Amino acid sequence: MTAPRIHRHEWERQYESGRWDYLEDQDEIDRYALISQDVRSYRAGSVLDLGCGSGVLYRTLIADGFRGTYLGVDWSLGSLPRCAEHSIHRFVCGDLNRLPVRGTFDAIVLSEVLYYLEDPARTIRELTTMISSEGVLLASIYQPRAGRSSPWLDTVHELDVLLREAGAERREVFSVSRRGRIWAHYALSPKKNLSGSLIPSATGGEQ
Ligand SMILES: C[S@@+](CC[C@H](N)C(=O)[O-])C[C@H]1O[C@@H](n2cnc3c(N)ncnc32)[C@H](O)[C@@H]1O
Repeated sequence: MTAPRIHRHEWERQYESGRWDYLEDQDEIDRYALISQDVRSYRAGSVLDLGCGSGVLYRTLIADGFRGTYLGVDWSLGSLPRCAEHSIHRFVCGDLNRLPVRGTFDAIVLSEVLYYLEDPARTIRELTTMISSEGVLLASIYQPRAGRSSPWLDTVHELDVLLREAGAERREVFSVSRRGRIWAHYALSPKKNLSGSLIPSATGGEQ
């Protein structure tokens, strides 16, 4: 992968500085809503959210009526304490490059995190053995503006090939704000796939 690596301590510093506060913006809520909708569609009773950050997906799931079990993993303590009001036992501090979790889950979420892993292919291979028989792996990949940053474009392309070759279904999500962000969402399921975009697209164009 050609995207720049971000060291764990750098993540801590960036959370501290507010660099990632925007992940709670309305733009981002659109894509959390799609993941939440997929969790419902697959009737997932257990969710493993890898690189969960400050737990926005967790809060979205709860607001949408999810009552199953949720486990969030992130290595940045700077993000995790913000989730303490829910239950610290739902969040684990750990490095995804050495998966700190075992067991099977109905939905395994990799939302905006694959770019940062040492070996995304290995991680996806390991995770496919942890999806329950009717379950799904859901990944979200931001689509950078063409020509803006070639290392990111290369990485996004490599991840796209990786996920498609693994059998994932791809949909695009457009944020409804004027910033016009675009993400690709992937659903990789041993048993079934969803079809069609669940979030209506707004205007095109990127920020
Ligand atoms: C861009 S944020 C995405 C947060 C959230 N999943 C979302 O969709 O908004 C990436 C997250 O991945 C975490 N992360 C990056 N590399 C990691 C690793 N090796 N192990 C655990 N977490 C990692 C970071 O700490 C950060 O919280």
